[in-house]
Amino acid sequence: MTRVPQHLALIMDGNGRWATGKGRPRWMGHVRGAHTAREVVTYCAQRGVEQLTLYAFSSDNWKRPADEVGFLFDLFASHLERQLAKLVKNGIRLSVIGRRDRLPRALCDSIEATEAKTAHGTRMHLRVAVDYSSRAAIHEAFAMAEGRGGVLPDTHILPPVDLVLRTGGERRLSDFLLWESAYAELAFLDVNFPDLSTADLDAVFADYAKRERRYGAVPAERATEIEVSPPMSPATSAHR
Ligand code: IPE
Ligand code: IPE
Ligand code: MG
Repeated sequence: MTRVPQHLALIMDGNGRWATGKGRPRWMGHVRGAHTAREVVTYCAQRGVEQLTLYAFSSDNWKRPADEVGFLFDLFASHLERQLAKLVKNGIRLSVIGRRDRLPRALCDSIEATEAKTAHGTRMHLRVAVDYSSRAAIHEAFAMAEGRGGVLPDTHILPPVDLVLRTGGERRLSDFLLWESAYAELAFLDVNFPDLSTADLDAVFADYAKRERRYGAVPAERATEIEVSPPMSPATSAHR
């Protein structure tokens, strides 16, 4: 088994293009995407991912037609209710990150109930980002830290991300976990999210396992190579 990221952040993109590419309405892409999300959660828990953060709805997604926004919220609420027993059985703790004050009351109630009933899960921490903006989260975290002796609240700043995976072919972060991804590895797949398979995840994990994460340091086995070089003279080391 290859080393898997402890914290995987997944930008689930390409639902709309999956549907329109098949001549179907966008909402069908979201339905299929929700199905894929369930499979991804189960598979990541099986593979030993400890933290999985899914980008479900960005604060900029409010710019979409009201019908699509409403559909997404209804879909999320119905999945929360249908998945609750399975989450509890599999030891998966679910939290929702992002703003709550603009979400429908019924959705907030489902979120709160699911969070409470899964709170004891220790196998994997699943976070779903809804009405989420990383820039807004950073602003709020710093505002809250002022009254807490400079300590950032972990409701706003999450544990470091090891791997960001984006489906759908775009190569951008779209305001997702910017602070937490400071040293994250990045992976982009051209596959639209509804088509993401466990084989695709295996390939992404295998590629991740090969990467050398240096965090700015020189790896110990290469540090000696530096010692044998002659010291640089001021003339050659000066900025030119
Ligand atoms: C991602 O798929 C789901 C959400 C952002 C809610 P999109 O809806 O962005 O699909 P594309 O990018 O338009 O294909
Ligand atoms: C990012 O996808 C948000 C989610 C996947 C929830 P978008 O489709 O909204 O991002 P952009 O507009 O292509 O940057
Ligand atoms: Mg998109």
